[in-house]
Amino acid sequence: MPADVLFPTDFRWGAATAAYQIEGAHAEGGRGPSIWDTFSHTPGRTANGDTGDVACDHYHLYPQDIGLMRDLGLDSYRFSISWPRIFPTGSGSPNQEGLDFYRRLISELRDAGIEPFVTLYHWDLPQALQDRGGWANRDTVGRFGEYAHTLATRLGEGVHNWITHNEPSVVTYLGHLLGTHAPGARSLRTAIQVSHHLLLSHAEGMDALRAEARPGDQVGITLVVAPVEPAGDSQADADAARLWDGLVNRWFLDPIFHGRYPEDMVEHYGENGPDIQPGDMERIATPVDFLGVNYYNRMVVRHDPASSPVQAALVQPTGRTYTAMGSEVYPEGLYQILTRVRDDYSPGAIYITENGAAYEDAVVDGNVPDQPRQQYIHEHLLQVHRAIEEGVPLRGYFVWSLLDNFEWTYGYGKRFGLIYVDYPTQQRIIKQSGRWYAEVTRENGVES
Ligand code: FCB
Repeated sequence: MPADVLFPTDFRWGAATAAYQIEGAHAEGGRGPSIWDTFSHTPGRTANGDTGDVACDHYHLYPQDIGLMRDLGLDSYRFSISWPRIFPTGSGSPNQEGLDFYRRLISELRDAGIEPFVTLYHWDLPQALQDRGGWANRDTVGRFGEYAHTLATRLGEGVHNWITHNEPSVVTYLGHLLGTHAPGARSLRTAIQVSHHLLLSHAEGMDALRAEARPGDQVGITLVVAPVEPAGDSQADADAARLWDGLVNRWFLDPIFHGRYPEDMVEHYGENGPDIQPGDMERIATPVDFLGVNYYNRMVVRHDPASSPVQAALVQPTGRTYTAMGSEVYPEGLYQILTRVRDDYSPGAIYITENGAAYEDAVVDGNVPDQPRQQYIHEHLLQVHRAIEEGVPLRGYFVWSLLDNFEWTYGYGKRFGLIYVDYPTQQRIIKQSGRWYAEVTRENGVES
C-alpha cells in the first residue's frame, strides 16, 4: 500500500549517532581521552566491560556509512563531534587532524546531498577537563565556548544546523547523581550545579556559534522530554509525578524558555540548589532557533519515600509492550509531549532529534527481520504527523540510530540501528526497518 499519510514537502528525514558510540579510533588522529574512555575502562562500569575503543570504526568506515545513508534516502544526518579530537588536552590550540576528519565527513555528506546536524556535546568531555573539575567547575563553561568558537570558524562553512547539547538531564542525573554514566559522580549538590553549568554553556556555545553564523544558520539544543503520569490516584503519587516532571522536564525547559528554574523544584532542592551569578538566567534564556526533542517512552511514577531526590520511583505498567531496553512502547506520548511543549514553551521550530528502539535482532539468511522496530517507528511517525496537523512546528525526524552502536552502560548488547553491525567483521546489513524507512523517505510519508 502506498503512503497516504504525507508530511510537509520540506520535512527532513534523518538518522542520528554520537561520536563515542560509533567512531572508535580512540587513540588515533591525535585524539585525547574522554571521560567515557576512562569510565568504560573502569572495571564494572559497562556490560561485559565493553568500551568505545573500536565501536563501529566509523572513523575509518565513514565513506561507506555515507553510502548507506544514501541507500536509506536520508536528506539529513545528526552526529556529534568528539571534543577530545579537537582539544585533546581540553585547551590550547586545536588539533588539526581532528578538524580534518570532520571537514572530510561534512564535505562528503554535502556531496551526497545530506545536510549535517552537528551536536557539540554528546557526553564525551575531554578527560583533561574532568581532571580540573569537569562540569562542576564553572571554568568548563568558558572552555565549551572556545570549543564552539573553533568549530564555528573551522567547520562552519559546511554546517547550517548546530545542537549545543544532547540531553543535559542525563549528564546531570546519570553522570553526577546516580553515577551510572561518566564521570560517575554521586552527589545531588554537584549534579544540580552541573545542570546549571550545562545550561550556561549552552548559552555560551550559542553566542560563539552565532558570532560566526551565516544567514539562515540555526542553533538549538536537544532535550529528552517524557510525559510523566502518576501510577495511582493518591495525592502522594500525584505529587511524585509533579516532582519527577520537574526533575526531568521542567528543570531544563523552564530556564531555556522562561529564564527561571521551576519554583517547586528550587524549593524542593533547598540548599542543594545551584549557585547562580547575576545575568546567568537571562543568558540561558537567549532564544533558540529550534528545540530538539528526544522521545523514547513515558514515565509512570509512584510515591516512594526511600527514593532520592524526589521520593518517587518508576513503575512499569502491566499489560504493555516493552523494548529490549525495558522501556514501554507508548507512541501517543510523543504527541502528548509535543503539544505540551508547544503550549507551555512555544518554540519556533522542533525537530525530533532521536526516536527509536532496541530489540533482539538476529541475522537470518543475510537479512535482519526487525518487524517490531519498524512498527515502533511507524506508530511514532503517525503521532508526529498528528502533531503537525495540530500546528506543532515540526521540521524533521531523526531515527536513533543509523547503526547499532556502543549503548553506554549497556555496551554492544543493545541494538538500536536501522543498520545491523557485525562487530567482529564490521560488516553492515540494512535491517528490514531500514529498507522500510527508505520507502518512507522516498514517499515522504507512511501508511495510515
Ligand atoms: C539517548 C542518547 C543516545 C542513545 C539513546 C538510546 O538518551 O542520547 O545516545 O543512547 O538514548
